Amino acid sequence: VLPVPPMSIRFDQAAGTLSPAGPELTRRMSDLEGLFLDQNAWRTAVADGDPIVYSVVSSLVPEADRELPQSITTIQPGSTGGEFWMTKGHQHPNHQGEIYLGISGRGGLLMFDGTDTRWVDMTPGTIGYIPPGWAHRSVNVGGKPYSFLAVYPGGAGHDYGWVLEYGLGQRVWRQDDGVAFGGYFAE
Ligand code: F6R
Ligand code: ZN
Repeated sequence: VLPVPPMSIRFDQAAGTLSPAGPELTRRMSDLEGLFLDQNAWRTAVADGDPIVYSVVSSLVPEADRELPQSITTIQPGSTGGEFWMTKGHQHPNHQGEIYLGISGRGGLLMFDGTDTRWVDMTPGTIGYIPPGWAHRSVNVGGKPYSFLAVYPGGAGHDYGWVLEYGLGQRVWRQDDGVAFGGYFAE
């Protein structure tokens, strides 16, 4: 892992880019297998253009012990089978904390420790805190792209299988007048 010098990093909100830039990734609907409750609606969305659901741009700070990498996630507006578009969600296997800062749009931070579920509304300027041991997923509950900055310990790791097995406690549904929460697993 290459060390990086002290530096500033610019975020161009219109372009959604960081400079200097590190890794970028794009998650399409097909990358979200097994996450939406309505599997048929998910399959239809994959067949119907496989849209980009979210993208993540990272700085050059490496994911290595004692470093503090950052990334900006942008979730597109939308819903599948009535469920708002969201990130895959993960647990940090080493149970380390993380902070998010809302940049634009309206979203939320869903957290689950295996027993309790918490929801934090995220608007521009909101700092959301994810304590160690809380799995987390971000959800766009607005009509525009939702972007936030994440800062996390470089040695935290990302366990996506945890969420497939245990879920996030709640699901976030689109309603005419806003947002509704429901149980995670099908009856
Ligand atoms: C890093 C973190 C965020 C997410 C990003 C994408 O620990 O929580 O940077 O990685 O919002 O979400 P996932 O990783 O769940 O696909
Ligand atoms: Zn995380």
